[in-house]
Amino acid sequence: MRIRILKKEADNILVAASKENVRVGDYILVSEGARRLVLQIYDERYLDVEGIEEEIAREEVLSASAQGVVEDPLDLSSVSTLIRDMRILVCKARGTIEKGRLSPRIDWVPSRANSKISRIMVNELSSSIAPLGRRKIKVGKVDSSFDFSLAAEALDGRITVITGRKESGKSHLAKMLLRGLLEYGAYSLVFDLNDEYDTVGLREDGTKSSVAGRVVVLRPGRELRFSLSSVGLRPVVSLLTHSLEMPGTSLREFVKIWESIQSRGELSMRGLEEAIQQWRCNELVRDAMHARYHTLLSSGLFTDSPERQFDLEKFFASREEGAALVLSLGGVSPLNRRMVVEMILSKLVELLEQRAIPPVFLLAEEAHLYLRETYWEDLITRMRHFGVFSIFVTNQPDAIDQKIYRQVDNIFLYNFSNEADLSLVSQASMVDAETVRAIVRTLPPHTCLLLGHAANNLPLVIGVNPFDSPSSGVTRRFFGDIDLQRMVE
Ligand SMILES: Nc1ncnc2c1ncn2[C@@H]1O[C@H](COP(=O)(O)OP(=O)(O)O)[C@@H](O)[C@H]1O
Ligand SMILES: [Mg+2]
Repeated sequence: MRIRILKKEADNILVAASKENVRVGDYILVSEGARRLVLQIYDERYLDVEGIEEEIAREEVLSASAQGVVEDPLDLSSVSTLIRDMRILVCKARGTIEKGRLSPRIDWVPSRANSKISRIMVNELSSSIAPLGRRKIKVGKVDSSFDFSLAAEALDGRITVITGRKESGKSHLAKMLLRGLLEYGAYSLVFDLNDEYDTVGLREDGTKSSVAGRVVVLRPGRELRFSLSSVGLRPVVSLLTHSLEMPGTSLREFVKIWESIQSRGELSMRGLEEAIQQWRCNELVRDAMHARYHTLLSSGLFTDSPERQFDLEKFFASREEGAALVLSLGGVSPLNRRMVVEMILSKLVELLEQRAIPPVFLLAEEAHLYLRETYWEDLITRMRHFGVFSIFVTNQPDAIDQKIYRQVDNIFLYNFSNEADLSLVSQASMVDAETVRAIVRTLPPHTCLLLGHAANNLPLVIGVNPFDSPSSGVTRRFFGDIDLQRMVE
């Protein structure tokens, strides 16, 4: 192999390579005695030899003016061609392999004269790392040709972010992960902003995969309606406080009314309305309660009909083989979205605290559009503790606070066209900003950079596989395919 260590510059190690078929993101191994230093290429440049530009220029002039008079008895031109073709691979040390085990040690520099250097494939690297789990979700390819699977366990108990520009493949990947989780019998809740997760159980030809029956799509106000008694006081109070900004005094009266009608066995929307009218209280307080009552009523999210109400606890109890509950938020007004999310999350945590349901993976697309500010931290701290493991999908990386990024375990990064997004993401991620910036910029379509726990903290460039599912959730267009065909004809 024609690569050599050139020098160390700050924490970069520069390697000279000629005719070596390596790319940004690939790994290199430098062996010296029993130790091996693992390097990752994150940037490339040309060798900057003194006078090389002048020489190139001279050769150009010569070959243009003196055609046919090419004499080079010592074959010097091929040497200079070699030098000119020489690339510098800018690398970062990622760890040390000693006795077959990888550790994050990078506090030594191999000798320039006595070390041997070679390419190492991600698969070989993995053999020196204890596996994260045995439930594999096939995701794509590494080193252009080797299969890469993610351990489902790497998402379990963890926070994951999938980000990149529009149309880069984020939802595509999220669907693959979701199907994988379903195959292993996990429970997921999906906040589906573009109504595209309904097909996650189907194959491309429309037939059902083994998990099709585990995917349940509910539209708020239609299949998804709650009754006051199945939701309970806490989620409703949380909705009134956070989504409908009900003042404290009114809220206290509301709780009294609730308790009173509950003790009489009249806990229903109808019972609530009557009680608000008859309740002895300040008129302003009554008005405040009344206004909220009407918002709840007109949202269509509540029903008194026992057959039409959705019960989250029963949903889990009746599905032993795992399930994905897809909340289809596409056509839902922003206020209703926030109300549904508030109630579902609050109910979820209540049930998890009581250990009434198993842990749940929460897949949230563009969560900043419906998740209130204070929920973010709650999700990554308290809620994670009780068993909500979030996967945030967004094309607006700045919608996620830096504080949150610091707690994230796994990041899937797709390409960004926008410099500001790229800087933000590179600073927020768990590897040095330089690496992320340089690699993400070069990512081809359908390729992402995986950072963090799921990659054993070795940044991995993954070419994501196609997903065997009907395409859905495509952005509506005015000019469809038909027009295109006509134009071609
Ligand atoms: N790895 C992939 N292989 C093949 N097609 C892909 C891949 N990733 C994404 N696509 C396709 O590209 C389009 C955009 O992907 P999508 O996941 O919807 O993007 P995003 O959610 O980032 O906006 C979709 O039609 C999707 O099917
Ligand atoms: Mg998407």
